[in-house]
Amino acid sequence: MSGEPQTAASDDQPVEQNPYGGAPSPGAPKRVRTRHFQNAKRDGIKITGLTSYDQLTARIFDEAGIDFLLVGDSAGNNVLGYETTLPVTVDELIPLTRAVAGAVKRAFVVADMPFGSYENGPEDALHTAVRFMKETGAHAVKLEGGERSHKQIRRIVGAGIPVMAHIGYTPQSEHGLGGHVIQGRGEGVRQLLADAKAVQDAGAFAVVLEMVPADAARQVTELLDIPTISVGAGPHTDGQLLVWTDWAGLTIGRVPKFVKQYADLSGILANAAKAWRDDVESGGYPNAEHSYE
Ligand code: KIV
Repeated sequence: MSGEPQTAASDDQPVEQNPYGGAPSPGAPKRVRTRHFQNAKRDGIKITGLTSYDQLTARIFDEAGIDFLLVGDSAGNNVLGYETTLPVTVDELIPLTRAVAGAVKRAFVVADMPFGSYENGPEDALHTAVRFMKETGAHAVKLEGGERSHKQIRRIVGAGIPVMAHIGYTPQSEHGLGGHVIQGRGEGVRQLLADAKAVQDAGAFAVVLEMVPADAARQVTELLDIPTISVGAGPHTDGQLLVWTDWAGLTIGRVPKFVKQYADLSGILANAAKAWRDDVESGGYPNAEHSYE
């Protein structure tokens, strides 16, 4: 993601190297802002995002040059032990979001608005968004739904809060959609395009496309002026987002087809736990090196 050449703001100064060697591309902004999402689309530079739910991963991903971190309601499955995202509450996400926002220097932090916190109408939606902005230090909020959520998006944006929209497969509507079903296939592309237009017109600064065919995502990306972010929507979008526990091989159970695993953290942690247990049982830990005189 690139900076904005014509502004002198310090946010646009390039970042220095970091201990993880994460090399944000030359000219990458010091602090990512919504304008940098727009610039990235204009300049054809891909935007990168990962979910994060804690300060340790937030710091690592930030220093590796990931552009934005989503404190997703996928914390329901990945942190809180729920089967779906539906039970997740605002009160559960607020401390996680605060931990992530407090740990980053460069990345743009997006707070996910959970099921039940905005569907009742624009005033409820604004109330939730204001809580996230005041209580966590997040830089934007995300909510699901296209045409059905456009009034909520307009109200939140009107109050000066950036909104990342989320269309295609929307996990909070899992039961309404009949399960994990790819959206925007065949005739469904018309609704997808209508949803995309609705969230852009309502003022969203970016839109997540989840589980839609690559060609449908390409059509949305060409239609819109705001950047599109793929989660299982193929390569023709302006950016990519993955759930970090899927991407790092930590998730237990089903991982969607679109996920590419970049590590095997489950294996690494399981081996470390077994080695430590063996050491303790055999008297190898702790030795003098790990004991006080
Ligand atoms: O909660 C989440 O992680 C999400 C992404 C899958 C888009 O909403």
